[in-house]
Amino acid sequence: LSADQASLVKSSWAQVKHSEVDILASIFTANPDIQARFPQFAGKDIDSIKDTGAFATHAGRIVGFFSEIVGLIGDQSNVPALYTLTEQLTASHKARGISTAQFGEFRASLVSYLSNHVSWGENVAAAWNVALDNFFFVLTSNY
Ligand code: HEM
Repeated sequence: LSADQASLVKSSWAQVKHSEVDILASIFTANPDIQARFPQFAGKDIDSIKDTGAFATHAGRIVGFFSEIVGLIGDQSNVPALYTLTEQLTASHKARGISTAQFGEFRASLVSYLSNHVSWGENVAAAWNVALDNFFFVLTSNY
């Protein structure tokens, strides 16, 4: 990830990082199989759960994780911390039986959300692609 790409990821993430509920709702809508893995939300209509405190809490955790990661990229001295956080995510999700294919669906939906909600273009798309490739490399290498 070049310095320019890291700043593109940071500046575009800043445009959506407070839309936690909207982001998780769009991921659930596009991937019922992901929603089905959340005991509290499985099988429920998105509109009926979207405005609940429980949904906001989960959305805050999941989207907040990305904020933490994005906050660390672009500085070589943060690489160990990026590995540690990502490896913890692998461990907790592997333990729940989440597949790497489901992470792939999550990724595709996140990129689709970004492309519709931030100022998007070739350079921003390429920057996210490299950042997510790096993240997924670490995420899936221990699966
Ligand atoms: C919990 C992040 C993808 C299912 C969590 C938590 C975080 C998180 C931070 C809370 C801490 C923990 O328990 O580990 C993420 C991120 C993802 C991702 C950043 C994508 C890059 C997925 C996918 C699924 C999933 C694809 C299901 C197919 C769950 C479940 C929980 C959870 C079931 C526990 C919820 C509960 O406490 O009831 N996730 N997650 N996650 N995640 Fe993910």
